[in-house]
Amino acid sequence: MSLLATLFRSSIGRKFLMAITGVILIGFIVGHLAGNLQIFEHPDKINGYAQFLHQTGPLLWVARIGLLLAVGLHIWAATVLTLENRRARGVGYGAGKTWIRASLSSRYIRWTGYVVLAFILYHLAHFTLGITDPADFKTQHAYVMQHDYAVAGFPVVAAGTEVHNVYLMVYRGFQSAPVAIFYMIAVGLLSFHLLHGMESLFQTIGWRSQTWANVLRKLVALFCLLYFLGNLAIPGAILTGALAPHPAAMADAPMPDNN
Ligand code: HEM
Repeated sequence: MSLLATLFRSSIGRKFLMAITGVILIGFIVGHLAGNLQIFEHPDKINGYAQFLHQTGPLLWVARIGLLLAVGLHIWAATVLTLENRRARGVGYGAGKTWIRASLSSRYIRWTGYVVLAFILYHLAHFTLGITDPADFKTQHAYVMQHDYAVAGFPVVAAGTEVHNVYLMVYRGFQSAPVAIFYMIAVGLLSFHLLHGMESLFQTIGWRSQTWANVLRKLVALFCLLYFLGNLAIPGAILTGALAPHPAAMADAPMPDNN
């Protein structure tokens, strides 16, 4: 069997597929969080960053398609493995590995996965497509860059360029309590999903020996906690007013009533 066929046709191959796609998705969410945390700086940062990503054109589409493929394969492999395990033992994925304690996060991995998927669909409608707030998406949210935006020292978006005001879009989005609370719950469940997902990943690639299991569990838990807090900070700070709206981002689009 070729390597590709092994990946898709054998049970261990599908576990590797879950691990590989898991690593890709973790890479994305960590990078995405780092980009989003720029909201705590001058609006030039997050707006310049979003403009830079959009400027990459075909590269952005390659990344988007890669991400979509990773999500699709991750779900497919998880579904097939669950069905196989059910057929073989009458129990869910992961239950056969007796030396992994059946933690809460492992028992609910499928359900947290469903919520994360639902969150991603809502999130795309919210911030990428602007379907949930269509009235002024992109047009009213215009922003003129005050400084150059640089990546690795190279200016990639020049001062004076009119860009999408991502800062304002996110700020206004999270002034709505139901939206902000939904995001906070969703990132909580995503972090919970990662808790078991990452331990399984390390087991699949053979890094989770009996000796290291406890240390690894603590490192994974620390990573998930930091990831959760980083994500929580954005809607949390906006909803509570801890992050005051930056005047530069509000200038060309007056804030509507907070309702
Ligand atoms: C507080 C948390 C988050 C904030 C503030 C946030 C913000 C954003 C924004 C502003 C965009 C649109 C960027 C643009 O088109 O210019 C976006 C896109 C996206 N976000 Fe998030 N995000 C958050 C959490 C997440 C999480 C947890 C995930 C994944 C589980 C995620 C997945 C995505 C994806 C897949 C896109 C589409 C990227 C693209 O269009 O190429 N986001 N996010």
